[in-house]
Amino acid sequence: MVFKAICSADDIWEGEFQDFEVDEREVIVVHAEDNGFRVFDAKCPHQDQSLAEASLEGNVLTCPAHLWQFDVATGDGVNPTGCKLTSYPCKVVDGQVMADLEAATEASQ
Ligand code: FES
Repeated sequence: MVFKAICSADDIWEGEFQDFEVDEREVIVVHAEDNGFRVFDAKCPHQDQSLAEASLEGNVLTCPAHLWQFDVATGDGVNPTGCKLTSYPCKVVDGQVMADLEAATEASQ
């Protein structure tokens, strides 16, 4: 596993997220309400629209294109169910959010 620094953990408050481009890949870093960080591909599994302008209420991320919703604690679809965001293993080391972008858990529709 090769973890790369994405951002400082202090950059993203609990309940917020931010998009980043890393190695020509757009990802979002979410600071979930359980105080954990998650890193997801910034592409919606519905029609690959960017999630950079999505909205986050509690742990529910809503894609702006057609309003599909995802639980950021797991990446699972909330509405509709049965879909999933692509996620990457992540951890916080020395105040940096690190992700292994080669170890994606693939999205599903
Ligand atoms: S592309 Fe996200 S809901 Fe359609």
